[in-house]
Amino acid sequence: MKTSTRLDIKAIKAEFPILDQEVNGHRLVYLDNAASSQKPRAVVATLERYYERDHANVHRGIHELSTRATQAYEGARARAARYIGAGEPEEVVFVRGTTEGINLVASAWGPENLREGDEILLTVLEHHSNIVPWQLLAQRTGAHLKSVDISDDGRLRLDQFDELLTRRTRLVGVTHVSNALGTINPVEEIVAAAKRVGATVLVDGAQAAPHLPIDVGAVGCDFYAFSGHKMCGPTGIGVLWGRRELLEEMAPYQGGGEMIEIVELERSTYKPAPQKFEAGTPNVADAVGLAAAMDYLEDIGLERIHAHEHDLVAYALERGAEIPGFRDLGPVGDDRAGVLSFELGDIHPHDLAQVLDSRGIAVRAGHHCNQPLMRRLGLGATTRASFYLYNDRDDVDVLCEGLNAAIEFFS
Ligand code: ALA
Repeated sequence: MKTSTRLDIKAIKAEFPILDQEVNGHRLVYLDNAASSQKPRAVVATLERYYERDHANVHRGIHELSTRATQAYEGARARAARYIGAGEPEEVVFVRGTTEGINLVASAWGPENLREGDEILLTVLEHHSNIVPWQLLAQRTGAHLKSVDISDDGRLRLDQFDELLTRRTRLVGVTHVSNALGTINPVEEIVAAAKRVGATVLVDGAQAAPHLPIDVGAVGCDFYAFSGHKMCGPTGIGVLWGRRELLEEMAPYQGGGEMIEIVELERSTYKPAPQKFEAGTPNVADAVGLAAAMDYLEDIGLERIHAHEHDLVAYALERGAEIPGFRDLGPVGDDRAGVLSFELGDIHPHDLAQVLDSRGIAVRAGHHCNQPLMRRLGLGATTRASFYLYNDRDDVDVLCEGLNAAIEFFS
């Protein structure tokens, strides 16, 4: 396991005002970061400044505020492109989040590229948002869905890609990091295998972009989607990155203002990507807030953040091993992000989460939007603690005390 170059967690925590509170009479220990992260002052201040000084509609007005807002919005696009190593800002489409990014591809790329009998290859680690849009597409086109399994250690069965990838595979959808188990998938290898059969690849980066350095060129995929709210940014904003040539070929996703060149009553022509996919007034303020979140994370360093979270999981596994009935479900090794999904004897995860909440500890309990994975694991639900840069070993200790208290409570 990697060791972290130390982050100054005390100083980092101080940047997140929401963490400085008591919940149910205890210090808040926020361990639900895979669901949504908290926001540092820098992001909140950016939103405030934007609304207090610069807000107007973008790309349309010939006045100072509209110019400022347009510059801020397009600056955020360029910032997002740099964050993921994209060649050009035009490859960044602002969307509401990962879910909308995937739906955009399924709706705008899918029907032109899939026919009856074609195949879409997913994995059992996918979040519902990387399953259901493809099911809808399969129903529209007559394509079939297939899925790669995991081995019992929570890792994808890479051998199955070779079996399941065929000349009929048009699309491979794979998550970079599992939100339920924390597995970091070898996406470069998966993309390379998909490319050997000519498939297009979409990577769900919702749990990766907040925690790991991302380089879409190195990943080699065609589409990469992620959400702002899981990476210290605002809710309601996310990024779909797509290869320029694919975005250019794709039909618009929604129609309206902003995305058109000429509108006649019978027909219209469209702007090039990314504007073609951004009908209506975009979410300018939150795009600007997301850019501030990217500055914040990169100033600290994604490598360091990942190492820190990895270290926390390693520590949690050590401490968990001392707790009767604790069973971690994720892989143990370098391919593990800061997600700890576990069982605790026969205590139901919802009951456990309630006991933890009564002690100020926020975790998620349930199927984590991964029902096929839960079925594969033979479970209805797990309890999940997910770490971020502001968590520390004290938080893990408080979690472990909570688990011991729950054992006592339910015994
Ligand atoms: N995708 C989010 C999670 O894993 C909501 O909790």
